[in-house]
Amino acid sequence: MSVIAINNLAKYFSLPKKGKGGKPGPMNGKMGPMGIIRAVDNISFEVKKGEIFGFLGPNGAGKTTTIRMMTGVLRPTKGNVSIFGHDVWKNQILVKQITGNVPEEANVYFDLTGLQNLMFIGEIYGVPKKTRLNRAESLLKKFELYEKRNLKSMRYSKGMKQRLLLCMALMSNPKILFLDEPTSGLDVQSARIIKQLIREYNEKGVTIFLTTHDMEVANELCHRIAIINHGKIISLDTPQNLKALTQEYKAIDFYFTNGADKAKIKDLSSVREVQEVSGGFHLIVEDIHEGICEIVDFIKQNHLIIKQLNTHQPKLEDAFLKIIERGDKN
Ligand SMILES: Nc1ncnc2c1ncn2[C@@H]1O[C@H](COP(=O)(O)OP(=O)(O)O)[C@@H](O)[C@H]1O
Ligand SMILES: [Mg+2]
Repeated sequence: MSVIAINNLAKYFSLPKKGKGGKPGPMNGKMGPMGIIRAVDNISFEVKKGEIFGFLGPNGAGKTTTIRMMTGVLRPTKGNVSIFGHDVWKNQILVKQITGNVPEEANVYFDLTGLQNLMFIGEIYGVPKKTRLNRAESLLKKFELYEKRNLKSMRYSKGMKQRLLLCMALMSNPKILFLDEPTSGLDVQSARIIKQLIREYNEKGVTIFLTTHDMEVANELCHRIAIINHGKIISLDTPQNLKALTQEYKAIDFYFTNGADKAKIKDLSSVREVQEVSGGFHLIVEDIHEGICEIVDFIKQNHLIIKQLNTHQPKLEDAFLKIIERGDKN
């Protein structure tokens, strides 16, 4: 069952005129003939109940613009988003009641402590007074902020603020959670806590929609991933299937203590490409087995002393780059 349906959604921005003070953003969106940026260009997809859906793409691809339309912050130029069958733009209050949202540049109330921020948000959402404190404290414990609950949030680190924002979004017990770049630029510990809790809330039944430019985050967390570039969805699949797209990418790295001739390595019959890397070579090969056998022979013949030899499995990052390159060629 789908809980979010996106139908022919588009957002166009007109280019700021020259000579005006307005600062234009990075112009990575596709420009139309009239100086229009097609930030989101006619996309359609559905998010199923109970899934973690990832929206993956490079900077300027249109992720934030899409999530802002999905949360009723920005009015679509064309098309619509519906949540549980309700048009988001026309039912903003209802949508806010059933969803939690952590926007890209959200902020906490600096003058309030962590706990006060949660109590305040709880009151806005009409969480009954009795449940409010319990819920706030339990969230603070889960997100490892309880010790710092009485500290003014202006003193929180970036990672702590992001964790607090997630707590705030969860105060209303939402059925759907929207997260725009939830772990971007955070310390390792905060990123780990956030990823863990995204999984935990999802296991409890919360549907999660997140954007990221980080392939590893998408790979670790998401059941399905849509790849967006220049405002268009260029691929939508499970991480496993996306990775399978790069099955033909087979590579071997080998490192050794004494020198070797790049030209000779390139002559090996199974080697397609050679890149010199510090202390060794990165080889793209036709076949891993043949490649290793040939390299081992080569090492013996040339009296090299091997330090390390790795083979590469296809990674989501390779699929991502490949899909984006393919899209750019069309
Ligand atoms: N308010 C705006 N006015 C003009 N252009 C915008 C505005 N918001 C976003 N854009 C442009 O739309 C494109 C997509 O931006 P965005 O959705 O923020 O990308 P992402 O979140 O994937 O990095 C970019 O080219 C950006 O400069
Ligand atoms: Mg963004």
